[in-house]
Amino acid sequence: CGIVGILGKSSVAPQLVDALKRLEYRGYDSAGVATIHQGHLGRRRAAGKLRNLETLLGENPLSGNIGIGHTRWATHGVPNETNAHPHQAGNVAAVHNGIIENFRELRDELTAKGHTFESETDTETVVHLIQSELNNGNTPIDAVSAILGRLEGAFSLAIIFGGEEDLMIGARRGSPLAIGHGEGEMFLGSDAFALAPFTDEITYLEEGDWVVLSRSSITIFNENNEQVDRSSTMAQASAYVVEKGNYKHFMEKEMHEQPEVIQHTLAHYVDFASGKIRFKEKLPFDFADLNRIAMSACGTAYYAGVVAKYWFEKLARIPVEIDVASEFRYREMPMEKGGLALFISQSGETADTLACLRYCRAQGQHIASIVNVTESTIARESDAIFPTLAGPEIGVASTKAFTCQLSVLLALAIMAGRARGTITEQEEQSYTQALSELPKFIRQALKGSDDIAALAHDLSKVKHVLYLGRGTNFPLAMEGALKLKEISYIHAEGYAAGELKHGPIALIDETMPVVVIAPDDPSYEKTVSNMQEVAARDGKIILITDQSGADKNALEDCQTIVMPTVPDIIAPIVFALPVQLLAYHTANLMGTDVDQPRNLAKSVTVE
Ligand code: G6P
Repeated sequence: CGIVGILGKSSVAPQLVDALKRLEYRGYDSAGVATIHQGHLGRRRAAGKLRNLETLLGENPLSGNIGIGHTRWATHGVPNETNAHPHQAGNVAAVHNGIIENFRELRDELTAKGHTFESETDTETVVHLIQSELNNGNTPIDAVSAILGRLEGAFSLAIIFGGEEDLMIGARRGSPLAIGHGEGEMFLGSDAFALAPFTDEITYLEEGDWVVLSRSSITIFNENNEQVDRSSTMAQASAYVVEKGNYKHFMEKEMHEQPEVIQHTLAHYVDFASGKIRFKEKLPFDFADLNRIAMSACGTAYYAGVVAKYWFEKLARIPVEIDVASEFRYREMPMEKGGLALFISQSGETADTLACLRYCRAQGQHIASIVNVTESTIARESDAIFPTLAGPEIGVASTKAFTCQLSVLLALAIMAGRARGTITEQEEQSYTQALSELPKFIRQALKGSDDIAALAHDLSKVKHVLYLGRGTNFPLAMEGALKLKEISYIHAEGYAAGELKHGPIALIDETMPVVVIAPDDPSYEKTVSNMQEVAARDGKIILITDQSGADKNALEDCQTIVMPTVPDIIAPIVFALPVQLLAYHTANLMGTDVDQPRNLAKSVTVE
């Protein structure tokens, strides 16, 4: 899941581990490094967390001024030491992100030639393939250039060669790879963030590029093996201090950053003085001309899109189609040329979302994206970028990126409403007024954290939880269930409150709590009826509502989280907070690995 490579001046193993630590946030389940010392390749790999690798390196150090490192999130083969990267065949060692789709064929071919494999991974095929070219008398550079065209799938690679202490080769197809420029040193990394301690001068490889690095040179080739120039940029990542401060977890810290980062994000989209939406860059499309918006995203970003569907349809009267990216891309949705395709992604690297983007590009759509990483692949392949300014999100379970995505989406829906004449200037002002108050309401919502922690005691003892909501609270219910299962491993489902009676009601008994998200909005009364259906079957309810909702609720056996009273339009952003806090406190009480939950990755660059 994370790659790093260093052509250094002194022993690189400790630096490799440091860089891998900066990639930890992406999630992983094993790690390893390889270096070359006195011509010989050496490797250390360990299952589990980086501290296991550090212990191993402590007991059995690796010398060498050139090396590669990797954190692996298992795709092919269990997360044990044998399957951990770097993989090695003879004089070749490599680390790899992504998936080599045709690895079985290649492996059969190589096995027939006498190669033996030690792991179950697709990656090991790559090193054997290169070694077989070296066996034919090719140089390392010729060997890599010969085999890259044979690999199918999306991947990035960093490769070193025994006997070659001033040579590293990187390749990028589908998975990101950045080159870091140093003084007499060179670096490779999955992102600029990993390389921040070493350099901030970064060159991003383009799709299909591969690079030959020495300590003093960078030679980049495109997919046709033609030498190309790629410019470098100064990355901003090193400016970010990624420390937990006084918080126990990054997730906790990031939840508490929300008032600030939302304010920061909104300042990009709203002119609070005039009460108007403003976006400095000219859009390559006009909302007034659109017949439809197609959105897609994964995970939490997808739920942000589902909330936004309600906003765009209500405020701008534009039909919105929203799908999870892994389905969208196979749906073969008919698209009228000139339509808008909008992608939402914190990392900007999610493979399925990127694949949808490329599908929509081929369908002649305008491509716009809401991303938190503006140097990401999705951002770079978009015609219009709408940034969230959440700062780096380290906790695997998304929190501040989600509420920033919602803030941007609401600003865009208002912008679209104005462009299409479906809201008046006065309405625009009342909506932007509501937006301007968001940071204040979020701050108030955070004050409820201790009360929510008290409720989490009961939740931490159950096996299943149902979340219910109507309208924009329905996607919030799904997001709430996702948060809880991601970090506490409690099974949870989000349902439209009205669907309760069409199935899930069969599950209700005193052992399955039901979390109901229902501010006192026009659908409140109907949701109250659903709560009564739950109560009548001994279900335990946790109601997240506002003061008037709490006052109207006559149910006796019901725990209530009382939220500030906020304008309906921004309620989904404010009500995201208790949903996050409930999951967080439950997981914290259970003692799970909140920031890096098992099996999950922050940035999923495989399909
Ligand atoms: C992973 C993360 C989720 C995230 C999803 C989409 O599954 O664990 O937290 O919502 O990917 O990521 P993106 O970077 O595209 O928003």
